[in-house]
Amino acid sequence: MIGIALMGAGRMARVHAKAIAAAGAKLVTIYDVVPAAAEALAGETGASIARSVQEALDRPDVAAVLVATSSDTHVELTGQAVQAGKAVMCEKPLAPNLSEAQRCVDGLGEQAEMVFLAFNRRFDPGHAAVKQAIEAGEIGALEQLTITSRDPFPPPFDYIPKSGGLFRDMMIHDFDMARWMLGEEPVSVFSRGSCLVDPQIGALGDVDTACVILVTRSGKQAVILNSRRSAYGFDQRIEAFGSAGMVISDNPRATGLKHFTSASFGAPDRFRSFFMERYGESYRLEIEAFVDGLAHGTPAPVNALDGLRAVYLAEAAGASLRLGKAVELKTNCEVTWHA
Ligand SMILES: NC(=O)c1ccc[n+]([C@@H]2O[C@H](COP(=O)([O-])OP(=O)(O)OC[C@H]3O[C@@H](n4cnc5c(N)ncnc54)[C@H](O)[C@@H]3O)[C@@H](O)[C@H]2O)c1
Repeated sequence: MIGIALMGAGRMARVHAKAIAAAGAKLVTIYDVVPAAAEALAGETGASIARSVQEALDRPDVAAVLVATSSDTHVELTGQAVQAGKAVMCEKPLAPNLSEAQRCVDGLGEQAEMVFLAFNRRFDPGHAAVKQAIEAGEIGALEQLTITSRDPFPPPFDYIPKSGGLFRDMMIHDFDMARWMLGEEPVSVFSRGSCLVDPQIGALGDVDTACVILVTRSGKQAVILNSRRSAYGFDQRIEAFGSAGMVISDNPRATGLKHFTSASFGAPDRFRSFFMERYGESYRLEIEAFVDGLAHGTPAPVNALDGLRAVYLAEAAGASLRLGKAVELKTNCEVTWHA
């Protein structure tokens, strides 16, 4: 049985801890800078508590490390775990900014392709079915992709300054989705952003409503729409339009319930509330893919290089917003814009 050390004992670590057991692996030990957090999760899972990163890495029964700590610690922890010869799965984003992401990939060298980057939406059954339909030729040649991603409500204000901004924090998932679905790197990005949800978000230097257009060399277009607020719940849809048709990964409903009242004539049940509920299945399937890959020695299906490219797109979108014009993108993640 594959032994895993979990770095972090916060929200995502808790989700991953459950999935590790479900995937038939063993959660061996947990390290968190807040010992009480590690103790609480260890108590629930039967794992041991590590008193340091090194203590966790020194354990011979730990074959893999799952990094689910705050975003500004991913580069360091991933590097340490790889150095120690462990397989690694790291939460998104790879790094809080482009220079850190580049430093991480440079430091990892050939191992960058082995680090599993946790872009969980690739494992969502609906979104994955869109990708499969594109690859199977069901919609002919892909021409336009529309990704809609709206949170039900904004995060707490104190989170905004440390989030790195909407593009790096929230749209990072959609940038990865766009690259994956397009099957071709974008060569330009144009973004617009506004503060329509809460002026306080603007006062903190961020936007809460944004749209981005990505274009590939062959002319394929992807439009990404993000909002920090949605009156009808977590809105997550992907539409792929091609020369022979269209497929849509729509919002799954909480249940199959339909409402019949004097005001509602067969209205389906609500959307799933937020990411834990909406993407629960994807979190389980990504850990399953990680554990399965370790057992069979197969490369990570989504890796640190994908993590770098997503951070690059996020940073370029931020530059486009500041400059008010489209920004050119390079395959080597070169910065083509002035800071
Ligand atoms: N894939 C997704 O859908 C998704 C959703 C939410 C969060 N995330 C990502 O997961 C990561 C964790 O987010 P969260 O919501 O669980 O945050 P959180 O604040 O709930 O948990 C983070 C934990 O990491 C611990 N920590 C911080 N620095 C550490 C260090 N150097 N060593 C060990 N422990 C450390 C903190 O004490 C805390 O317990 C973030 O990078 C975030 O971007 C991904």
